[in-house]
Amino acid sequence: MSGLLEVTDLRRYYKVRAGRGPFAAKALLRAVDGVSFRIEAGRTLGLVGESGCGKSTTGKLALGLIEPTSGTVNYAGAAMPPTGGLEWRALRRRIQMVYQDPLGALDRRLPVGAQIMEPLAIHGDATPAERRERAGAVMDSVGLQPHQVDRYPHELSGGQRQRVVLARALMTEPDLLICDEPISALDVSIQAQVVNLLLDLQDRLGIAYLFISHDLRVVRQVSHDVAVMYLGRIVEQGEAESLFARPAHPYTRALVSAIPTTGAGPRRERLLLQGDPPNPVNVPAGCTFHTRCPFATAQCRSEVPLLRTLDDGREVACHRVLESALQVAA
Ligand SMILES: Nc1ncnc2c1ncn2[C@@H]1O[C@H](COP(=O)(O)OP(=O)(O)OP(=O)(O)O)[C@@H](O)[C@H]1O
Ligand SMILES: [Mg+2]
Repeated sequence: MSGLLEVTDLRRYYKVRAGRGPFAAKALLRAVDGVSFRIEAGRTLGLVGESGCGKSTTGKLALGLIEPTSGTVNYAGAAMPPTGGLEWRALRRRIQMVYQDPLGALDRRLPVGAQIMEPLAIHGDATPAERRERAGAVMDSVGLQPHQVDRYPHELSGGQRQRVVLARALMTEPDLLICDEPISALDVSIQAQVVNLLLDLQDRLGIAYLFISHDLRVVRQVSHDVAVMYLGRIVEQGEAESLFARPAHPYTRALVSAIPTTGAGPRRERLLLQGDPPNPVNVPAGCTFHTRCPFATAQCRSEVPLLRTLDDGREVACHRVLESALQVAA
């Protein structure tokens, strides 16, 4: 069975200046470097990793907002049409994007009702009365009041603004939402409401999500599957519950061990991440994580580890995965 969204060996490279000054040589920045994953209809894939590892670039590639250097994106079994063309614009109805900053995503000069109706106006296949009716229904489904149609973005709270963004995304009845840090800019007290709304929308409408976030607690709460990125590559991916319970890659183990706990439950392994990720234009040879990995050996410094599948179906790219797991158990 093919997934709703399937990306295969996706790469996106940028030519950037390697050093300072006008004569600095150009170097290749591998923002996304061979990423493959699949999202089934109605399911959520959480995409996690430190700042700069390529999460947003992956999201934009999945939506066709930017073209890949190589690799393929398939949506509902068909190749993503060329960015900007008629076919692509038609497909954009099915895949919508929700960004981190709702104020930045909205037009400050327009009442929110008009902005919610905009996607149907662009696609031009509904009468004004139909658009208003659909907007009313969608606003209701995201918990906005009918009288709020005439409000301007600055007259709403951060949580209400993100509801407006969601309402606008839902107007075209998408099958997939790409949510790039959708709650990071919101007040902590409102984050849970928006997360619950996303879960509720998935339940009711069967929407699939690519949920990009650095907040592992939230990712754990919303995701069926999780992919962990490090310097443009996926280093571990699999079913969310088992990945969080038994992270296999040392990087995942460090990320999971940094999730704040409530104090209840069993004691967890502490694996602290040393330093920052390396410069992405000059990545370490071998396993790119070796410079920060407490288990690295000579092999890790010279040989790139490929993703291999463990017994529970999880994929992990680490030479030392079994040995390091055994070490912790001992
Ligand atoms: N248009 C561009 N030109 C050059 N480099 C880029 C471009 N877009 C992204 N990059 C680089 O690609 C890498 C990945 O960026 P990306 O925005 O995908 O990271 P991210 O994981 O979303 O980070 P964050 O958590 O901070 O949002 C970074 O090193 C970034 O500087
Ligand atoms: Mg980002």
